[in-house]
Amino acid sequence: MTLPIVALPIHTERLLLRPLTEADAADVYEYQSLPEIVRYLPWPVRDRAESREHTLKRAGFTHIQNDDDLLILAAELPGGGGVAGRVIGDMSVFLKSVEHRQVAIGWVFHPDFHGRGFATEAARATLAFAFDEVGAHRVFAEVDPRNEASVALCLRLGMRLEATFVESEFFKGEWSGLCVYAILRSEWAPE
Ligand SMILES: CC(C)(COP(=O)(O)OP(=O)(O)OC[C@H]1O[C@@H](n2cnc3c(N)ncnc32)[C@H](O)[C@@H]1OP(=O)(O)O)[C@@H](O)C(=O)NCCC(=O)NCCS
Repeated sequence: MTLPIVALPIHTERLLLRPLTEADAADVYEYQSLPEIVRYLPWPVRDRAESREHTLKRAGFTHIQNDDDLLILAAELPGGGGVAGRVIGDMSVFLKSVEHRQVAIGWVFHPDFHGRGFATEAARATLAFAFDEVGAHRVFAEVDPRNEASVALCLRLGMRLEATFVESEFFKGEWSGLCVYAILRSEWAPE
C-alpha cells in the first residue's frame, strides 16, 4: 500500500477534497446537528460542543497506512473572490485490511446541497483515491436499505449489491438491515 497523503488535496469539477481540520467544526455542525441527516448514521444528533469534539477527533486521523486507519476528507465548496470555502459534507475512507486491500467508504452531505450531484462527484473522486492511491482491490459501502439516497449513490458509482442482512442490527431503537455494495478495481478501471 502506498501512502496517499501526497495525492491530497483532490480537485474535482466543483469541489476540493482535503483532510478535515479543526477549522471545519462550525461547517460540520451544520449537518451533524440535523436528525434527518444522522438517521442512518451511527451518530447521535450532536450539539455544537459535541460536534466540535467529534470533528477534532476525526481531524486527528491523518494516516491511511495500517489496518483500521481512517481518513476523513472534507468536501469543500470553494468560495470565490477571497471568500472562504464551506465544507458541505465529508467522505470517510477506512482501510479495513492492508493484506487484502479492502477499503470502505462513507459519505454525508448537508441537505442544502443534496440533489445536485455533489456527493456523486466527491464519491467518484474518493473511489479513484482508494484505488489509485491507497491501492485498494475492492471498495465497499455498508448502507441501511431504507436509506434510498445512499443506495442510489452506490448504484450511480457502479457498485454491486453483494449482501443483504435482514434485521441484523438493533439500531436507534429498531431492528435494521444492512446492505453491502462493492466495486472491484477491475470493475472501476477495466484493463
Ligand atoms: C447519501 C447522500 C450523500 C446522497 O445525497 P444526494 O444529494 O442524493 O446525492 P448527490 O449529491 O450525488 O445528488 C444526486 C441527485 O442529484 C441529481 N444530479 C444533479 N446533477 C448531478 C450531477 N452532475 N451528477 C450526479 N447527479 C446529479 C441526480 O439526478 C440525483 O437526483 P435524484 O435524487 O432526484 O435522483 C445524502 O442523502 C446524505 O448526506 N444523507 C445523510 C447521510 C447518510 O445517510 N449517509 C450514508 C450513510 S450509509
